[in-house]
Amino acid sequence: MIRRWSPNKINPAVTILFFGRRIGRKKKKTASISFSIKPTRDKTEILIRLHEKIVCLSKKVEVNNLVFSLLISENKQKAKAMINLNNVHKSYVMGNNKLHVLKGIDLHIEQGDFVSIMGSSGSGKSTLLNILGMLDNYDEGSYYLNGTLIANMSEKKAAQYRNEMVGFVFQSFNLISFKNAMENVALPLYYKGVSRKKRNLMAMEYLDKLGLREWAGHMPNEMSGGQKQRVAIARALIAQPKIILADEPTGALDTATSYEVMEILKEINGDGITVIIVTHEHDIAAMTRQIVRLKDGLIHEIIRNGELKEFRHAYMKELETV
Ligand SMILES: Nc1ncnc2c1ncn2[C@@H]1O[C@H](COP(=O)(O)OP(=O)(O)O)[C@@H](O)[C@H]1O
Ligand SMILES: [Mg+2]
Repeated sequence: MIRRWSPNKINPAVTILFFGRRIGRKKKKTASISFSIKPTRDKTEILIRLHEKIVCLSKKVEVNNLVFSLLISENKQKAKAMINLNNVHKSYVMGNNKLHVLKGIDLHIEQGDFVSIMGSSGSGKSTLLNILGMLDNYDEGSYYLNGTLIANMSEKKAAQYRNEMVGFVFQSFNLISFKNAMENVALPLYYKGVSRKKRNLMAMEYLDKLGLREWAGHMPNEMSGGQKQRVAIARALIAQPKIILADEPTGALDTATSYEVMEILKEINGDGITVIIVTHEHDIAAMTRQIVRLKDGLIHEIIRNGELKEFRHAYMKELETV
């Protein structure tokens, strides 16, 4: 028997009580709380869920012979989000020095959104993107990717979920220099155990989509920057991820080629894939639907679709001259 109770919002401080005893407290603007009762042979477990981290995370509390496990959960609306970061912190420790890079990031990105992350060099853009792509861990807070809490996963499970969910595109393309375009694109399928024949066939399909069929047999050093980035995008797409994460995808390209790459990312987004790019170029950011600005380890500003007009007006003039 599982009973559920989930009021929409509780405001502003949540005190969790059972049989009149206070077992947890949460000071927050809003919190969503639910609990389920799971009787097993020798104990009754009550799971209490709050949509954000609470102090007594996974601590077990015994009251009147009942064992309480306090866990993190999501309210319904947030569970639908593709990306949900709550109070995420990240520091790098080097010897005696600790560099606090992310100081409490709250970020909510819907499925199918097209987002750019901006900020000065060293502001933590790549750190944030690496956390989103499960390439790096965070120290504090919570990160849900498509409803799954990304924390304490085994390396194997993380790799599996990452391969299923995320495709990466990098500034420096990161192609394997001794493999041709088709083999580079096919690589993610090799790791998935797809046969050579099938993965090469699919690689050709994706190269074709990106206008590179004729370049399938060429090595990366025989291709232009724009072509290499298109190969990298094909490689990111071949495993059919739900998100594309791109760290300065146009950083090594001239303006005209940058805009071509952005057009491709826009099309990919049009197919329903969530696209998140890091960029420090305003005109590139202006082509996305939401701009997240990082400053001093925090989100300084989010410019949303409706408010982008002025931003575009200021920065998209360059487009007309191309
Ligand atoms: N692996 C690491 N070890 C130590 N410090 C790092 C590491 N990665 C990044 N940093 C530092 O963290 C800060 C943020 O880096 P990063 O996220 O790459 O910034 P951005 O992409 O915005 O330029 C920088 O000061 C950088 O030097
Ligand atoms: Mg960076």
